[in-house]
Amino acid sequence: MKVTIDGIEIDVPKGTTILQAARMIGPEVAPPAMCYYTKLKTSGGYCRTCIVKVSQGSTANPNPIPKPVASCRTEVMDGMVVQNFTSPEILEARKGVVEFLLINHPLDCPVCDQAGECKLQDLGYENGSVKTRFEFKRREYDMIDIGDKIKLHMNRCILCYRCVKTAEQITDKRLHGVVHRGDASEISTYIEQIIDNDFSGNVIDVCPVGALTDRTFRFKQRVWFTKPVDAHRNCDKCCGKTRVWLKGEEVVRVTARKDQWDEVEEFICNSCRYDHKKTSDWVIEGPSPIHRSSVISQNHYNHLNELKTQAMKQQKALGFIPFDKRP
Ligand code: SF4
Ligand code: FES
Repeated sequence: MKVTIDGIEIDVPKGTTILQAARMIGPEVAPPAMCYYTKLKTSGGYCRTCIVKVSQGSTANPNPIPKPVASCRTEVMDGMVVQNFTSPEILEARKGVVEFLLINHPLDCPVCDQAGECKLQDLGYENGSVKTRFEFKRREYDMIDIGDKIKLHMNRCILCYRCVKTAEQITDKRLHGVVHRGDASEISTYIEQIIDNDFSGNVIDVCPVGALTDRTFRFKQRVWFTKPVDAHRNCDKCCGKTRVWLKGEEVVRVTARKDQWDEVEEFICNSCRYDHKKTSDWVIEGPSPIHRSSVISQNHYNHLNELKTQAMKQQKALGFIPFDKRP
């Protein structure tokens, strides 16, 4: 099936969604996604950040779809023409979506553990407005400890349902969910039961904001002062392939590895995540690939050579003679 997204044509198999097709082309056309998660079945359809304009439905029926569609839930039709970043209406509508997501979200980035790796923070910078028009009191909840390892800060939750689906699909029993409806909806463990099973820690990795954080890492370190390295160990419960976040020689946290869409590559067990906090527990493979635009890449290694090459090229183009080469 042929689909054109922002002027780029691609051939995709039947059943591919617009979002997946856009990701196959690359980040230059891929819409942001706050609730869709490739590895979680039935995810997507909640947040509306992935909306796109379908300016031609298909070759058979070239009519446009009259309103924005959620690209994570809409399958490609042969001959479909889609606009994402090239549509001013979509950019405007997405701004509105971001404003809605931020209605109740506290602006506590300076003290939030997710700062630097928060998808809502990125979304706000890339698609948001400078001001909110919301004049009412934001909803507020008490923070809850879900067991001894996870902190739930419901004020920050955007109800993307990822953690619910993770608990349902990855762990052997789900003890939390979304209760109530509308603006009273909240993530709850019903009677604040402890989420206690081998894979429960994965809810932290899938949470796009700082609503679910790792209590063993909270307030320990700003993430951009840490060094992420890919590491592995022999584990009988999971793949054992993780990302180990170092501060000097100290392992400050262990997470799953994430791909370029910030989605977990393979879910990891709680033993790898919480019980192996010594560098000697791990075989270090090398620096983790971190996207250059991420704040986590600041002061880090991978992109420095590339920057140096670019700077040298520019200097050459400008006829700049390095000081040590001057007569
Ligand atoms: S706690 Fe996080 S992962 Fe769960 S619904 Fe809220 S924002 Fe999504
Ligand atoms: S990513 Fe499509 S609706 Fe959330």
